[in-house]
Amino acid sequence: MNITIGSDHGAVQLKEEVKMVLQEFEDVKVTDVGTFGTDSVDYPDIAEKVCADVVSGKADRGIVLCGTGIGISIAANKIHGIRCALCNDVYSAKKSREHNNANVLAMGGRVLGFGPAGEIVRAWMTTEFAGGRHERRVNKIMALEQKQDQK
Ligand code: RB5
Repeated sequence: MNITIGSDHGAVQLKEEVKMVLQEFEDVKVTDVGTFGTDSVDYPDIAEKVCADVVSGKADRGIVLCGTGIGISIAANKIHGIRCALCNDVYSAKKSREHNNANVLAMGGRVLGFGPAGEIVRAWMTTEFAGGRHERRVNKIMALEQKQDQK
């Protein structure tokens, strides 16, 4: 599985920690689109880079990080084809895969420590979409994009 990851300056350390956790998965290849230092950057730019890889198919899934995870998740969800879930607990991470088929995970570098973030990533990486009635609902989510375009 190919994963593209990115963060703003508020989550550079968490990004490195998440990359360490992703190394536990033998078949996972990680692309890091930055940022790589503490200089301030704008999280929508990072969301755009990560999500471009997901939408194009270069990445199977993405992980986006900022100080809270809020701004970058909002930005990611503006991009057609993206279902970004901001998860600060394991239960939400599992459900975001099972119920929402989330293709991008967002977390907050100023919210989560290494331990909890690692558990969230492991849960999110290993939980499959349940389909069934959830597929109908996810299809309706995606149809909202088309409805907006037609206005
Ligand atoms: C950057 O200071 C901060 O606003 C950003 O990382 C994030 O928390 C926004 O939602």
